[in-house]
Formats: sequence, C-alpha cells, structure tokens
Amino acid sequence: MFFLAFLVCMLLDFGGTVSASTYLIGLGSYDITGPAADVNMMGYANTEQTTSGLHFRLRARTFIVAEPQGNRVVFVNLDACMGSQLVTLKVLERLKSRYGDLYGEHNVAISGTHTHAGPGGYLQYVTYLVTSLGFVRQSFDVIVDGIEKSIIEAHDNLRPGSIFLNKGELLDAGVNRSPSAYLNNPASERSKYKYDVDKEMTLLKFVDDEWGPIGTFSWFATHGTSMSRTNSLISGDNKGAAARFMEDWYKKKASENELGSSNPEETEALGIPRRVSNVIPDLQEYRKELMELASSFQSSPGKPTTKTSSIARRVRSALRQADKPQFVSAFCQSNVGDVSPNVLGAFCLDTGTPCDFNHSTCNGKNELCYGRGPGYPDEFESTRIIGERQFRKAVELFNTASQQIKGKVRYQHEYVDFSNLEVTVSKAGGGSEKVKTCPAAMGFAFAAGTTDGPGAFDFQQGDDSGNDFWRLVRNFLKAPGEEQVKCQHPKPILLDTGEMKKPYDWAPSVLPVQILRVGQLVILSVPGEFTTMAGRRLREAVKMVLTSAGKGEFNSNVQVVIAGLTNTYSQYVTTFEEYQVQRYEGASTLYGPHTLDAYIQEFRKLAMALISGQAVEAGPQPPDLLDKQISLLPPVIVDATPLGVNFGDVKVDVPSNSTFKRGDMVTVTFGSACPRNDLMTEGTYALVEILQGKEEWISKYDDDDFCLRFKWSRPAKLSPTSYATMEWRIPADAVPGVYRIRHFGASKGLFGSIHHFTGSSSAFVVA
Ligand SMILES: *[C@@H]1O[C@H](CO)[C@@H](O)[C@H](O)[C@H]1NC(C)=O
Ligand SMILES: *[C@@H]1O[C@H](CO)[C@@H](O)[C@H](O)[C@H]1NC(C)=O
Repeated sequence: MFFLAFLVCMLLDFGGTVSASTYLIGLGSYDITGPAADVNMMGYANTEQTTSGLHFRLRARTFIVAEPQGNRVVFVNLDACMGSQLVTLKVLERLKSRYGDLYGEHNVAISGTHTHAGPGGYLQYVTYLVTSLGFVRQSFDVIVDGIEKSIIEAHDNLRPGSIFLNKGELLDAGVNRSPSAYLNNPASERSKYKYDVDKEMTLLKFVDDEWGPIGTFSWFATHGTSMSRTNSLISGDNKGAAARFMEDWYKKKASENELGSSNPEETEALGIPRRVSNVIPDLQEYRKELMELASSFQSSPGKPTTKTSSIARRVRSALRQADKPQFVSAFCQSNVGDVSPNVLGAFCLDTGTPCDFNHSTCNGKNELCYGRGPGYPDEFESTRIIGERQFRKAVELFNTASQQIKGKVRYQHEYVDFSNLEVTVSKAGGGSEKVKTCPAAMGFAFAAGTTDGPGAFDFQQGDDSGNDFWRLVRNFLKAPGEEQVKCQHPKPILLDTGEMKKPYDWAPSVLPVQILRVGQLVILSVPGEFTTMAGRRLREAVKMVLTSAGKGEFNSNVQVVIAGLTNTYSQYVTTFEEYQVQRYEGASTLYGPHTLDAYIQEFRKLAMALISGQAVEAGPQPPDLLDKQISLLPPVIVDATPLGVNFGDVKVDVPSNSTFKRGDMVTVTFGSACPRNDLMTEGTYALVEILQGKEEWISKYDDDDFCLRFKWSRPAKLSPTSYATMEWRIPADAVPGVYRIRHFGASKGLFGSIHHFTGSSSAFVVA
C-alpha cells in the first residue's frame, strides 16, 4: 500500500516531463557585448577603468512563459550591471511595434546580473553617466538590440513544455560586506536566520515536450565584483561565467548523448570534461609529423593569411543545430545589496590585516581596504571559482528538479513616485503612523565606496580632478533644503540628486515595481539592490499576503524570489535600522529611511491585485530622456598602421617551430584597429583554430571562451595605431594537433569607411 502510494507520487511528480504540458515556453539569447575600447565600465564608477578588450562576451538571455490561450510573462537577464529605464522604455517601444499589445511594461522584466565589467553609458540619469563622459550610444544600442533579438528568439521558440522548480543552499559564494549594518537589525529578527546573507539558489528548469531540457534560470544573491575595479577586459563576472560554463556543459553532455558515448563519471565530475581521444602510439613520431605540418603555415608580414572571410563565425554559432533550440542558462541577481563574492574577507593592502569592522578602513583610510575573492590575488581565478560554484549548484538543482510548476500566469505593474510617497508604518509601541519618503539623495559614505571597490565617484564639491562631463555638470550641484535634510536624517547629504534637474534629471523619482507569477513561483522585480534583510522583509510581506488572502490558490508551496536591478536602477535599499548606520548601502538608499517600507507597501498592493485580478493604477510615466543626453566620449577618428604593415599582420608571433602542452599560455600580438569600429556582435575578435587533414582549419575557441583573452592596446592615448594581443591558456582537454590563432577586426579610414581585416599567427603544435 505504502509502496503503491509512493509509486503514484513518483508518477505524478515526474510525469510532467512526458505528460501533457501546461505552458508554452520559449527561450532566447543574444550577444550584447558592446564597445571593447575606451568606454568606462559600469559599476565601480572608476573614471580610469575603461574597456580595452574581452575576457568573455555578454549576453541577454530570455524566457517567455505563456498560458496556451492566455497571459504570458517575459523575463530577460542581462550580463550588465543593472537594468536601465531608457533601455526598458525603448525595448517596450520596439515590442509594441512588432507584437502590438502582447508585451508591455506589465509583463516584461529586464534584469541585470550586476557585472561590474561591462561598458557603461546606457543609463539615462546624470548620476550614472558621470564617469562614462555622459551617454554612450554604442553601449545603449547593442543592449537594446540584443534584448529585442533574444525576446524575438524566445517568442519564435514558444512550444508546449513544462517547468520544474528546485532550490538549494550554496554556502560559499557570498559573504556580508557590511555586517556591522546587518547587526543593527533587531536581534529577534536576526535569530530567525542562520546566516547574515541569503544562501538559497532558486532554479527553474524548462523542458520542451519534444526536445527535452532547453534551459534554466536561477536566482542567487552575490555581487558581480569578482573582477576588480582596475580590470579593463569586458567580462560577465561570476554570473556570466556560470552561464557560460553551464551552457557549454549541457552542449557537451548533449552531443555525447547523441554519440552514445555518455560517461556517467564525467557527468558526475562536472568540471571541464576531458576526452581521451587520439590515442597516439608513438608520441615522438606524431609530434614530428605535427611539427612538419605546422611549419608549412608560417606567417609573415604582408602575406594574406587565408582565403576565408574576414568576419568570423563564432564557435558556438557554428555548433548550433538549426532545428533545435540552443540551451540557455541564465544566472540572475537577487537581494544583492550587502553580499560580496569576495568570500575571504576584507584586508588592508599595506598591512595584510583585516580592515576595521565598523568602517572598513585601514588606519582610517578606506582606499586600502579590499575584499579578497577565493582566487586572490588572481581576479580571473576568483571569477572562475565563484562562477563555478554557482554553476555546480545549478547543475545539481537541474538534475534533481522534480517540483512541477503549475497554475496561472499573472502579473501586476505600477509606476510609483518615490520622491514623496506617504507610507503607513507600524510604531514600535503599537499602532501605526504615517511617514514619507524623500527626494533622492546620496550620503557621504557613498563616496567612500565598498570593500569590493573602495573610493567611488570623485564627487565631492570643490573637487577639480573629475573628467569633462563632471566639470560640465558640477555647476548644477544643489545644497539640500532644511526639509530634505530632516527627511533624509541621519544621512549626511553629499549629493541632493533628487532635486537636481540640470542639464537633466540626476536620479529617478518614478520607479517601476512589478510582480510576475508563474504558477507557484512569484518574482518581485525591484529596481535596485536590496540588502539581505531588506529582501527578506519584502519576501515575507508578499508571501503573507498571498497565503492569507490567496484563498487556497497559494499554500506554503509558494516560492517568492527577488529579481534585483530590474527595469531601472535606483541604487540601494536597506532596512530602517541599517539606514541608521549609514554605511555605503545606507548612504545609497536614495529615498530616505522609509524606502523599504514604501516598497513593502506597494508590493502588498500588487500582491493583493495579483489575487483579485484587478489591475492597479498605472501611476506616473517615467521620463524618456534620450533626446537630452550629452555624450563627450570622442569617436574613433582613424586607424593606421606603420608603413609596410597591414592591419592584421602579426607583430609578435608564436616562437617558431614551437610545441606547447596543456596548461601553457600561447601569446600572439597583431597590428589592429579600434574594436569600436565593429563590435563583432555574435562574432569574435579572436579565434583558435585546429588543422584538420592537410589544409582545413576548424574553429575551436573564440573570444567567448574562458581560456582565450583578447587584449587591445594603443602605444599612446591618441595614437591611430593599436595592437591586439591574444592570450590562449591551453585547456586541460585540448586535443593534440596543429593550431593557429587568428584575429578579426575592422579599421576606420580617414573618410569614415570601415574595412574588415583578419590575421593569423604561425601554426604551432599542441602535444
Ligand atoms: C622548422 O622545422 C622544420 C621541420 O622540422 C624545418 O624544415 C624548418 O627549417 C624549421 N624552421 C625554423 C624557422 O626553424
Ligand atoms: C562597532 O560599533 C559598535 C557600535 O558603535 C560597537 O559597539 C562595537 O564595539 C564596534 N566594533 C568594533 C570591532 O569596533
């Protein structure tokens, strides 16, 4: 009897993969990498941190879930620092002209992973454009285009399928970077939680009725600050890395299954799988053979390298099966406010001792206090490790996901003016009182930055060291009035951004808040970085509404996740108690001490509406400031090469007749041109090829691979000549053979015409 009941349960639970689907599901993904030269990176607000090459590419990944004849929701995860109001508005415009009313502000969420290693300048408010010399059209366009394309792909992929939910704890991928603020929350509240950051990862597994698994989306809170504030290579940081690892892992697994050579041990190990192919009887003989082959491919200046096109197809696009959707795996951000991936803690650069607990300073100075990632001092290693930890947890959740998502697809959305919102809060001694939010303002602690990147904006009044854009806008600084000072208390106001409107708005006042429901999963789209405890309070409040007023539609099964940095950006949200401490997160909580209470009030309203089905009022429309944007980033004037040298010629080749082994680094430098001339969207600047037979070259690794880095440089700031250096760390599973490294680029002529070029290193042997 027991056994029978168990069996029935099993069938019910797992039946979803084979039985009738409940939803239409579709996934999509598109390149949003952006300008890999000269553009300030978004996140650390470090004027000096501008792009000069690529670690790996950035993508927009989308899922759409639709009731067969009913509602649908769209969720987009960007390898970008945050959502942007202007990006969201422009994407919505495009969706409207393409699909009519199918997609709109109510059912589309666009969220950022919070990588601090992507090109900036795509937001519309002045505060977020200071270090990028204003608006950067190229950054903005590639993101809007990429989101649109990924949504189109997801839309075109909509087919019957099922969704499974799973969650689990990931212990070693985040620590609290402001524990002294966290400790100011009531002890009774803190005692309900084991940790001072959220450790839970929530994962959705999408299973197409016909094709099987087509992707995953997961939410987990940890900052995209594994790469440091001095890095200049575009990178998706730890979440982008996790996505890259998981998509490649699945592709490998799937192709092995197809070939019937799936090895359970390998699937188990999850790391970079190794393939023991090419068993070579006589290594010496084989190597000699390869060397001879390689020596027939010597590169020399001026010699055209191949007959092939000078625009590269990416390795991953080439591998794609046209009839089958690509596997899309997105790692999304959550209540990330006080969560750092630098899990070893924060230490002083000079003494190596831990920083001051309450102030994150070293001898009173904040510039010396830095958080350390698990790969310290190698930031690429830290990125890989924190990425891999999230990836492994996601694979585990993917492999064991059995709770099927069932129920309605619903959404609610409203715009709220946070600059002057009346909020009812309960009083400590019982009863309630009415309080207000304030116009946005940033406190002094904001300028100090965090242990992930100390010393942020050069924002102090009277500071002359800023860039041209700063010199242009600093005359509009405004001293806060008495009312504002009182409202924001105890925050000492550094920048009264909410009351600064020239040359255009410095900070948002109108924010979008949104609830998406897919069965028992409820996603809260928040336009900022909630701290751990702020996120917990918000989730609990929404869960309470849903389970108490939900009339049995929601039970304890309901899973509420926070999607951080979604639809627009308004910095941080702390609890009232954390706000009193005024660390970086409190200083960056824009709308005063009751900001979180305002969110909770509005989300309760949305949750009620989600149940009743009655739409809430739309609220005031946020401004579209595109026409007002100022851009001071100089364009590419012209690219040039020294006399007798062509674009793409090898400047520093691999050592002649050289043999490398796995783990070695191969370095080649090419004469190049500014990457801003062509972003190589869905293409690549760098390619590692392997020789097949006597003359056919096959693509093996591109600039989206972790093992291959593209570094771009100029000999001097305004020099028209430039170089591309490719660094290939030969992976542990590289197949022995003859290889070469290629570069693809585009140069700009004196009259603005763009010419594509390519170059190739000499061939070399990996044995
Ligand atoms: C490289 O090796 C090949 C064959 O082993 C030899 O013929 C050739 O001269 C060598 N080239 C150089 C530049 O040493
Ligand atoms: C941090 O500040 C709190 C409150 O002022 C104080 O009680 C505590 O001793 C301080 N901790 C350290 C390590 O300085």
